[in-house]
Amino acid sequence: MALYRILIVDDEESQRQQLAGFLKKQGFSVTTAESGPDAITICQDKNFEVALIDLKMPGMDGIELLKKLKELNPEIQVIMMTAYGSVESAVEAMKLGAYHYVNKPINLEELKLNVKKALESYHLLMENKYLKEELEEKYKDVQIIGDSKEIRGVLSTVSRVAKTKTTVLIRGESGTGKELVARAVHGLSERADKRFLPVSCAALPETLLESELFGHERGAFTGAIKKREGRFELADGGTLFLDEVGDIPMETQAKLLRVIESQEFERLGGKETLKADVRIISATNQDLEKKIREKSFREDLYYRLNVISIFIPPLRERKEDILLLVDHFIKKANQRCGRSVKGITPEVKDIIMNYDWPGNIRELENVIERGVVLSRTDAIDKGDLPYLGLVSDKSLEYVPPASHSLKDMEKDHILRVLKKTNWNLNKSAEILGIHRNTLRLMQEYGIQKSTD
Ligand SMILES: Nc1ncnc2c1ncn2[C@@H]1O[C@H](COP(=O)(O)OP(=O)(O)OP(=O)(O)O)[C@@H](O)[C@H]1O
Ligand SMILES: [Mg+2]
Repeated sequence: MALYRILIVDDEESQRQQLAGFLKKQGFSVTTAESGPDAITICQDKNFEVALIDLKMPGMDGIELLKKLKELNPEIQVIMMTAYGSVESAVEAMKLGAYHYVNKPINLEELKLNVKKALESYHLLMENKYLKEELEEKYKDVQIIGDSKEIRGVLSTVSRVAKTKTTVLIRGESGTGKELVARAVHGLSERADKRFLPVSCAALPETLLESELFGHERGAFTGAIKKREGRFELADGGTLFLDEVGDIPMETQAKLLRVIESQEFERLGGKETLKADVRIISATNQDLEKKIREKSFREDLYYRLNVISIFIPPLRERKEDILLLVDHFIKKANQRCGRSVKGITPEVKDIIMNYDWPGNIRELENVIERGVVLSRTDAIDKGDLPYLGLVSDKSLEYVPPASHSLKDMEKDHILRVLKKTNWNLNKSAEILGIHRNTLRLMQEYGIQKSTD
């Protein structure tokens, strides 16, 4: 059973013990603190639904603590404990967002009632918060930035498939924008005003994943304390985004195949057959074909999911998008952090253009946001990117041994660049600043493509 957590803050030990004893008996999980600062430390690591706070404490008083706790956890419901005659302070506390106040000495039955009501109020607030988050999620902007031919290709497929109900499989390395593209497909479809629900299929054990997808009846498994609707039910009419689809266990794959084929499913532990009209978009950065060969992914499911496939190339293969993205992320970060950064210094531009971006666009976004926060002028400067400086293109940082001839060095360097570009001759020639034909040197040096 989920235990509700109550924090008691009072400088008087006997009072703390009395209340804690009483509330524990009522089945709550109780933590006590003897001062405001003590309470704040506790609240930094742990969430409480309700806090009982003594108004009058030496040092930080109850009112000040109330303000601090609300900053840490705006949903927390605070009940002030006041001595008789301090009505004014009690009223002030209510104005500052306390849920209620009780007079000392405390009438335990009255307290119990107040705690119960405070919990109801907490749940109402949380529900509203989730609803609001879902709405925000719905209208989150799905601007896909980029002008490379790769991104234009992605966008043209997106607009062609959006109107249909076909399944779409989105592939690409981590951080390339798979979820963003999935949202765009949904946003352009006739289902746009219905839900887009992501399910992360990785990191969930089989039963929990199935319960997430199909829901469960009460008692279907240990911990299933009440009936729960699954994502298929909730997304009815809308789109389900199966993230990391390659991680779905075999058993669950069979069930998923059935829903896709018949739109029918049962909740875990349930007998009733339910129907849902759901469009499925999935994403993976795994080699599904290999998984099929290894018999850890069903081939029939693969064909069902992969009616249309969209591949998003890694950022390092479409470097012409980088500066557009930088601009976009600067604007976004400015807005979020209330700054007015205008751009990046030429030096930063150099670093950014030469970096490999293993974490792709997510990494670039983080670097830029960090730069916007740290920058002291209106351009992000090298010093604002300590992290990038550290990892900047190790593959090209190479100190040749003093015994090397110039010819050896040339050969080594060409080889490194070739490996870095995955043996793309055009790109290598560009980096090396030589004509593609000059790479004929390769033969002269005996350079051969290897797989290491
Ligand atoms: N073309 C783009 N234009 C603007 N923002 C982008 C673009 N591509 C990705 N992003 C942003 O980069 C971040 C990562 O994108 P997203 O979460 O879609 O990647 P992903 O491929 O799903 O990553 P993972 O495999 O790690 O889940 C998001 O904040 C997203 O908004
Ligand atoms: Mg993702």
